This record gives sequence, C-alpha cells and structure tokens, in this order.
Amino acid sequence: MSSDIKEIPTKPFDGQKPGTSGLRKRVKVFEQEHYTENFVQAILDSIPAQGGAKGATLVVGGDGRYFSVPAIQIILRIAAGNGVSKLIIGHQGILSTPAASNIIRKYKATGGILLTASHNPGGPNADFGIKYNVQNGGPAPENVTNSIYGRTKSITSYKVLDAPPVDLSKIGDQTYGPLKVTIIDSVADYVELLRSIFDFGLIKSFLHSTPSFKVLFDGLHGVTGPYAKAILLGELGLPRDSIQNFEPSPNFGGGHPDPNLTYAHSLVEVVEKNNIQFGAASDGDGDRNMIYGKGAFVTPSDSVAIIADWADSIPYFKGGVKGLARSMPTSAAIDYVAEAKGYEVFEVPTGWKFFGNLMDAGRLSICGEESFGTGSDHIREKDGIWAVIAWLNIIAAANQTNKGWGINEILLDHYQKYGRSFFSRYDYEEVSSEGAQALIDNLDKLFADPSFISSSYNAKSVSESFTVAKVTNFTYTDPIDNSVSKNQGHILQFTDGSRVVFRLSGTGSQGATVRFYIERYSKDPAQYERPTAEGLKGLIEVALAITKLPEFLGRSEPTVITVSGVLSSRLVCHLCANPIYPQ
Ligand code: G1P
Ligand code: ZN
Repeated sequence: MSSDIKEIPTKPFDGQKPGTSGLRKRVKVFEQEHYTENFVQAILDSIPAQGGAKGATLVVGGDGRYFSVPAIQIILRIAAGNGVSKLIIGHQGILSTPAASNIIRKYKATGGILLTASHNPGGPNADFGIKYNVQNGGPAPENVTNSIYGRTKSITSYKVLDAPPVDLSKIGDQTYGPLKVTIIDSVADYVELLRSIFDFGLIKSFLHSTPSFKVLFDGLHGVTGPYAKAILLGELGLPRDSIQNFEPSPNFGGGHPDPNLTYAHSLVEVVEKNNIQFGAASDGDGDRNMIYGKGAFVTPSDSVAIIADWADSIPYFKGGVKGLARSMPTSAAIDYVAEAKGYEVFEVPTGWKFFGNLMDAGRLSICGEESFGTGSDHIREKDGIWAVIAWLNIIAAANQTNKGWGINEILLDHYQKYGRSFFSRYDYEEVSSEGAQALIDNLDKLFADPSFISSSYNAKSVSESFTVAKVTNFTYTDPIDNSVSKNQGHILQFTDGSRVVFRLSGTGSQGATVRFYIERYSKDPAQYERPTAEGLKGLIEVALAITKLPEFLGRSEPTVITVSGVLSSRLVCHLCANPIYPQ
C-alpha cells in the first residue's frame, strides 16, 4: 500500500439498503462521519462481479444538489485508495442522469456513481442520494444492490488516499495519486447523442416556419438547464425566453424539482398565461419529463404510447422498433400500439432497471413509466430532454401533413385510433410505516379471501358499479436472466377492464409513501375529451372504500395527484372538485 493510502476503521450503519433508485437519505444522514465513506467503499467492493474495482474506470457526477461536491471528494479519496484506475467526472460535478448513462456507455467505463436524489428537494435539510450504475449505463440490478447492501452490513474499514481535494472546475486530465482524473464538459457528449437520434433539421424548419408555435422549457432549477440551453437555443435556434429556471441550484431554488402538475407550477402558470403551445419540464437530475401545452396535458402513459406510435418519424428508429415496454402500474395505452403494430410488449416492475436486460438483449426500443419517465435504448436511463425533443420531432413531422397540429390534436388522434386509457395516481407521502404496512396486510387478507372475487361495489356519487374480477400481487420473471422479483404491487382488476394498483414507494427518505394507481379504458369517442377526474370518480371511490385506505393511513387526501386530462382548464381535484389551476 502506498504510504498516502490509509485504512480507516469504521462500523456498519443500519439501513444502507439501496431503494428503487439508489440510497436516498436526508443530507444530515450522509454528513455523519464515515456514513458516505462506508457506502462508497461498499459500492467499490461490489464491483468485482463486474470486473473489479482495481483498474476500473468510473463516471462520477450528479444533479449538483447540496453535498454533491463533498461527496465527490470522498469518492475521489476512496477510489484512489482502492486502486480504481480512472474517474471521469462532470465539470463541477454536474452530469444529468441520462448524460451519465451515455458517458458510461460511450467511454466504455466499468460503471458510474451518480449523486442525486432525483426529484426530491435538495439543501442542508433535504435529501441526497448515491446510485451505482453498471457497465451498460443502467442502474445496478438487484444482485449488485444486494451485494452493496450486504457489504454495508459487515464493513469494518475503508481505504482512502490522504490528499487535498481535486479542482472540479478544470476541464481536462489531472492525476490524483495513483488515479487518473478527467473532468469533462457536462453537456457536449449528450448534445452529440441527441443530434444523432432526432431530426434536428425538421424540428428547426418547423419551429422557424411556425413562429406562433411557442416553446417553453422549465428546468425547475435542476440539472437540465444547461442541456436545454445547448439544445433548444443552441441547436434549434429558439429564442432565449424559451427556457426558464435553467441555472442548476444546490437547493433547486427552494422548490421541489418534480415535473408534475403539483410541483411544476412555475411552468403551468406561464404556459397558461402566455398561451404557449408546447411547455415541458424535467426533474432535478434530468431523467423525468412533463409535456404540457396550453390546455393540453399529456399523461406519461399516453406520452410513451404516442412516441411508440410515431417512432418512424424519428431517425433513430428508422431501422425498426425492437419492442415496447412499460412498468406494471403504467396504463396499457402502449400495449394497444404494440398490438396494432405487431411489436412485443413487456410489463415490468416499477423502476427503470428492469428495462435494461430487455434492451441489452435487443428486444426493447421504447419504454416508459407513469411516473413521468420515458426513454429508449439509446441509453439505459429514462431521459427527460430526449422525451421533450421526441415530442417536438413528432409535432414537426405531424405538421408536414396536418398543418396546425399541436399536443391536443396528436392526443385526440391517438385516442381515436386506439381508445383512451384514463389514468391517475394518488400519492400519500410520508405516512406512518405501520399504517402503510397495515394497508398492505389488509390487501393480502382481502386477496386471500375467495369470496372477494365476483363481489360488487356501488359508487356513491355516480351511478357506477364495479365487480372484482381478479387480484394479483405482481411477480416478475425477467425473460432474459429468469431472475424473479416478487411483491411488486397489489393489482385489483374489475370486470369492465379497469384496475387499481397499490404499492409502497421505494424512493422515499422518511416514513412510507403509498402509491395508488387508477386506470380505466374506453373506446367510446364521447369519452375522449372528458376530464379524467370525472372518468375515474366512481372507480376511485370504490377502491378507497374497499381497501379502507383513508382509515389505515389516517389521511383523507393524497399529498399529490397526478391527473390526466385533455383540457387543463378542466383539471379538477378528484376529492374537493376545485380547479387545480384556477385561470
Ligand atoms: C418512483 C417511481 C418509479 C421511478 C422511480 C425513480 O419510484 O414510481 O416509477 O422509476 O421513482 O424515478 P417509487 O417511489 O414509486 O418506488
Ligand atoms: Zn429523476
């Protein structure tokens, strides 16, 4: 061991188990002495399955949230202490999650350490996160995260290089003891990637020939600002006022960087006020997206189905679509596209990591999650800016034959072709873990009772009735490696084809979060412009009554409602019936 490399004794910390997307905790937890060091050492100890920490090349970067820079200095010290050969780090520690995935792939790195808690708020009293991605650029699969967790439980020491911090502002190569360090431009490789995927020429000529089509991208003070600036302004020549909140800030400007109708208020307001046809936002680390134009909101479930349907307008897919996929709670809208076009379609558990094997095996091109995640096999993460540019590409292509088409026209055209899946999600955030467990235990009890099947329930406020058809606790067997993931959500299916799903979040940093997903399909054209709140009202009432959710959680209302509706002016809260964004 070189004399500058020291072995520091430590003790395991409880609860260093990576969740749906890495280890997420309050900053104060990560700031404890040895806490971050232990986890990073556990990651490096778990690399051997991938070829070993010694001699590895790792990509490091994140959304720039509070504690990112100290965490990168810790990673540098431990990587150097463990014989890692090279770290490729984003300038000032900044790399969006999709950009990091691209860099791992492009530079054939061993893996990457991503510093993000995604859309969770940042700052000294908010959240931080560390996530390990493997060689294919995607989140570590469960065998790796289990191995990391295992190591955190038995760790007794970690190795560090005793040296001063590295200057993260200097683009180029440096050495750090035995370690080579390359600080790279955070944006350039990603812009090049998107240029190779989309028809920038077509988008540009549409935007320039249609000056009335205004675009607004809201970075929510997360990591995507610089990427959006380079692409929307730099590549597509849009005016400066097409982007807002584009300076990454360590606490996301004090906001909650999650692109949905509750938290992306800044976007919704300006879109409505300035009659902007195409609005979009991304989350803290840049993997989520929301598409929202004046009077037009696209649910992520619809968004991925539409992108799949229009794939042949995107140069990257000209060679053919290999297959489609969605996470289990995501609506079946994409399944109808797959059926019509003869594509294979997969239903995987929640979490992007489940798409990776299918992509690597050449069976999946386009996939999405209802949680504002959309993407393709160009990388192994969901990709917010990719989805935004995909939509611009599709609108530009649609306008070649249908002048004046915007988000609404594309949505309605889709419903006319395939029918409409009404979809919504209720989140009950930071409820007591005991209450959440009691809800799940009660679902298990109900599901085990044979008399539950065929039982019927009437909604009180609307004359609708629902009969239970099937109940499932979702288990997934990966078709590529046959690994089995159990307990992935309770599905309650009714005889009319509608369904509700309950699952516990795996990304929260405190207490428990219960997610309640509601889906109802219709092929009746009279329903296509109906507000989602109306379309789902009876189903929601019945599901809440059957499961006694409000009683178990002690909450009469969810914290967040993800609503879908064609006309935003008609978006109303399902519970209080007040408009969500009064004009
Ligand atoms: C949530 C979303 C899930 C997404 C994950 C990471 O996980 O529901 O679709 O993949 O964030 O962005 P959850 O908190 O539900 O476990
Ligand atoms: Zn994210």
